[in-house]
Amino acid sequence: MIINKPPMGWNSWNTFGDQINEKVICDMADKIVELGLKDAGYEYVVIDDCWSLRQRDENDRIVADPELFPNGMRAVADYIHSKGLKFGMYSCAGTLTCAGFPASFEREFIDAETFAEFGVDYLKYDFCMFPDNKDAQLYYHRMGMALKATGRDIVFSACNWGNRESEKWIRSTGAHLYRSTGDIGERFNSVRAISTSQFDKLQYAAPGCFNDIDMLICGMDGVGNVGHPGLCGDTEYKTHFALWCMMGSPLMIGSDLRRVRPETIELLKNPHLLRINQDEECRNPIVIESPRSTASYTMFKHLSNNQVALGFFNLNDDDGSGELCPHDIGLTINCGFGFKFTDVFTGETLDFYNDYIKVPLKAHDCKVYIGEYVTRD
Ligand code: GLA
Repeated sequence: MIINKPPMGWNSWNTFGDQINEKVICDMADKIVELGLKDAGYEYVVIDDCWSLRQRDENDRIVADPELFPNGMRAVADYIHSKGLKFGMYSCAGTLTCAGFPASFEREFIDAETFAEFGVDYLKYDFCMFPDNKDAQLYYHRMGMALKATGRDIVFSACNWGNRESEKWIRSTGAHLYRSTGDIGERFNSVRAISTSQFDKLQYAAPGCFNDIDMLICGMDGVGNVGHPGLCGDTEYKTHFALWCMMGSPLMIGSDLRRVRPETIELLKNPHLLRINQDEECRNPIVIESPRSTASYTMFKHLSNNQVALGFFNLNDDDGSGELCPHDIGLTINCGFGFKFTDVFTGETLDFYNDYIKVPLKAHDCKVYIGEYVTRD
């Protein structure tokens, strides 16, 4: 199975943590359809940690907690599939999951079989309690094989947070995406630390295996497992989402879709940002750090159909600016062309030839454009 574009969907962890159950998961599937998120491309509904009993059964199988999932996991899968969506679950390469539930170390094949029987289309595979003296590549590879051996198409979502330089070997394990960072929290400094930590590793992602910089916090509004009241608002959500799109990360929504504000839904459905994220050429952006302002980055990315994306990001806690020198993106004074840029949020246009541009940006704000090549007289 080839995954050609960063996967998009919803995951339970950021908001619900261990407060998951059948109703919550099925409600989210309903909302993904009702809110038009499915039509926008969000497809996977993923149950994270804390879904099972603490003990395996007498056949060594992991068992879904019958109080949380009274009709069993197959029923959840069937419901999600009936909505035209895909079903994801979670396990871990270590001896226990991060929340202390049974995990798949040395039980990769039997667990893969269980997931296939559940009707799973996507497996997130964590790294807690993985023995220090074991070879992580080998064990991720083992689960990659175990999933394939089931004969079911299952997206393999590795999550070892970039440990042991996983960007260098994770593709070889059969993984389709790999978490490269620690856990996100609903704070702008988390968004900044996670995104900037990958600026020098963007080249490892490509069709087939994408760099996952963690689930989205957009629209959490201070509520939930990793929520922090008052630390993020619309500006932070906008810049976070735009960065994830420019950087080609999978887009897994982490908020409670029953209460998310319309402004956030509009952001998550922004067709231009999604086009940048899902572009078929899957090129990583060139990242230019401003020599003049702190934590101000310009990103330039080739898109298909002879288009480009340009982003200015002020990741600083103070007001500042974004800037673009033609030279930095390869434009020479006499090259004879420039760009017509269209702002992905406002639709305003900007003609750019060989001028230096400086745009004021409030703290944590960004501007993103899609550009067309235009010739110059
Ligand atoms: C780790 C992962 C998180 C989440 C939790 C669940 O911390 O990085 O994304 O899956 O485990 O316990």
